[in-house]
Amino acid sequence: MTSANLISSQLSELSLRHAIKEYRRQVGDASSAMLSFEDRLELMLNVELSERHHRRIERRIKEAKLRIRAMPEEIDTKSARGLPQALLSQLLSLSWLKNHHHVLLTGPTGIGKTYLGCGLAMAAIRANFTVRYFKCSSLLEKIGTCRLDGSYRLFVTRLSRIDLLVLDDWGLSPITVNGARELLDIIDDRVGTSSLVICSQLPLSNWYQALEEGTVADAILDRVIHNAIKVELSGESMRKIESMGLQESLDSI
Ligand SMILES: Nc1ncnc2c1ncn2[C@@H]1O[C@H](COP(=O)(O)OP(=O)(O)OP(=O)(O)O)[C@@H](O)[C@H]1O
Ligand SMILES: [Mg+2]
Repeated sequence: MTSANLISSQLSELSLRHAIKEYRRQVGDASSAMLSFEDRLELMLNVELSERHHRRIERRIKEAKLRIRAMPEEIDTKSARGLPQALLSQLLSLSWLKNHHHVLLTGPTGIGKTYLGCGLAMAAIRANFTVRYFKCSSLLEKIGTCRLDGSYRLFVTRLSRIDLLVLDDWGLSPITVNGARELLDIIDDRVGTSSLVICSQLPLSNWYQALEEGTVADAILDRVIHNAIKVELSGESMRKIESMGLQESLDSI
């Protein structure tokens, strides 16, 4: 076995498969022979680490099941919508997530709550946090199936280990007493350890009525509202603005 093959197989045994690719590239590249041993080794390690990082991020994005793959750098703050650049920068700094606080996004349909929530989730994933997105109704459905098949405790424990839970469409469909208790269970597990982003068309003042049972509503809101950044988006629907832009470009053809 040549020494190049031996090195490749040893790298493979160590599961450094991206470093192998870089090593083979260097072996076949005359200009790499001019580099020092340290430079070549550094290149191999850099390739291995950056590929692993990239794959980890991609895996986490997939596991998060985000509704929209919103890129933080593409979040538009120009249309007047209650999201000044300074507030967006504060949100994207993720200090709220590091401190286990929450973000509550409210505003009318199409204003960009899901987009912003998913953009923050994406920023969190890039910063190495774990994320899971749920529409509120789907989460309650999932809890129902977990109750039936006996996996409820396991599901709740797994959720509690996730750094950021995005709950979308909060209060869009009525939350029953049982549903509210289930949500309280999940939210209670997160107090002081992890964060929530909640998106809702309902203004904060109406959240209490959306939860059927008063004491459970009190308990949920007490855990959610005090340690939260509240963002109230307002103005024209982004969907409408987008479709007007599309229409203009169609008209100009
Ligand atoms: N900040 C933003 N920057 C760029 N595009 C945006 C932004 N916010 C929203 N959009 C665009 O507008 C569309 C509608 O936004 P989104 O689905 O987030 O609205 P919503 O407030 O969640 O509405 P609903 O209450 O009906 O769920 C998105 O798919 C996206 O294309
Ligand atoms: Mg939405």
